[in-house]
Amino acid sequence: MVQASAPGKCILFGEHAVVYGQPAVAVAIDQRMTVSLEISDVWRIDGMRFSPERHPHVESLKQRLWANGPSLSIKVNGDIPPASGLGSSAALSVAASAALRCARGRQIKDDDWGEGWTAARPNAVYTGPWDVEQGDSVQTGKDSVDVDECAILSHAVEASAQGGRASPLDSSTCSHGGCIVLSDKVESDLNWIYSRTLNDVSWEVHAVDLPKEIEDVWLVIGNTGIHAPTSEQVAKVARLLENEPGRMREIETIGIISRRGIAALKEGNMEGVGRAMSENHLLLRSIGVSCSELESLISAAAPSSLGVKLTGAGGGGCMIALTRNPKETSEAIELAGGRTLISKIAAHGLIVESDDNSPLWNPFE
Ligand code: MEV
Repeated sequence: MVQASAPGKCILFGEHAVVYGQPAVAVAIDQRMTVSLEISDVWRIDGMRFSPERHPHVESLKQRLWANGPSLSIKVNGDIPPASGLGSSAALSVAASAALRCARGRQIKDDDWGEGWTAARPNAVYTGPWDVEQGDSVQTGKDSVDVDECAILSHAVEASAQGGRASPLDSSTCSHGGCIVLSDKVESDLNWIYSRTLNDVSWEVHAVDLPKEIEDVWLVIGNTGIHAPTSEQVAKVARLLENEPGRMREIETIGIISRRGIAALKEGNMEGVGRAMSENHLLLRSIGVSCSELESLISAAAPSSLGVKLTGAGGGGCMIALTRNPKETSEAIELAGGRTLISKIAAHGLIVESDDNSPLWNPFE
C-alpha cells in the first residue's frame, strides 16, 4: 500500500487582500488529510464506486498522473473539517498527488527527470509531462515524490475546480508545511522558493524560518459550522471595490498590517503578531466578510488571546485565536457555540507515510 498525508492551513494575515497583490501569510496546522492507494478490480473511493463528478480534484489528478493506469482503491481519512477555510481540499490534492507519484515512480533520463512538473521548468508548469521515451531508469517510492511538484499539481486542480480563481497560498502551505508568505514581489528578507502565475496573476512564494518563541503559543480554531463558498466571498469584495473604489485603501491597509505581522513573527514578538491579527480582522469586518456567528466566537476568545480574527474567505467557516492558554480559549469558544481544534503553529508538510510494494504500476513498460 502507498500512503501520503498533508496538513491543513490557517491564514494568519492577508486573505482577500492577496487577491489584489497584497502580502499574505499562512501556516500549516496539525490536522491532516491522508490518502492511501491499492490496486483494485474497479475504481473505488472509501469503498464506494469512484465518481469523477463527486471527486473532481482526484479525477483531475488521475488524468495527470494515472492516465491508462490500472484501477485503484483510494482511501481518504482526515481531521480537517471540509469547506471551512482550513485547506481540506488542497491537503487532499497534495496527499493524493504524492501518493499517485509514489505509486507510479518517475522516469529518469540522462540523470534528470524524464517527466513531471517543476518550477525549474516554468513552461512545463500546468502543461503536463514533457517528452517521455523509454529512459534509463525509474525512481521509485519516496524518492520519486517532490514537494514542489505536489504544490504545482494541487494549485492546478484547485484552480480548475474553482473556475480559474485560486491563489497558490493553500497548495504551497499544505505541501511545504511551515509558514508560507505570498507577495507581489520577491521579499529579500524571506526565503524565496518560486513564482507562480495563473491567468496573468503572479505571486512570489516564500518560506519563513520561525523563531523558538512560537513554541509557547497555540492556535485555537473555532468553526461556526457555516459553509460559505470562497468564490462568493471573493466576488462580494470585488463588487464593493467596483462600487466604491476608495475602499481599496482598506485592502492596502491589510497589506501594511500583514507586513507588520511578518516582522513581528520573524522577531518572535508574539504579542505583536496577535495585535496585527486583531487589526487585520477589523479591516476584514469593514469590507464585509465577517458575520454574526464569527463575531460571537471572536468576542468569546478575545479576553484569553493575544489576537483573534476570521481565517480564510469568511462569511462563515472558521476564526482563529493566537493564545498562550489554549484550554481556556477553547472552552470560551465552545461555550459561544463553536467547535474547536487546537494546533501548534507551522506543522510538517507533505509526508509519504508508506511506499510498500511501490511502484504499483510502471507506465513505461
Ligand atoms: C481563501 O482561503 C483566501 C482568499 O484570499 C482567496 C484566495 O487567496 O484565493 C479569500
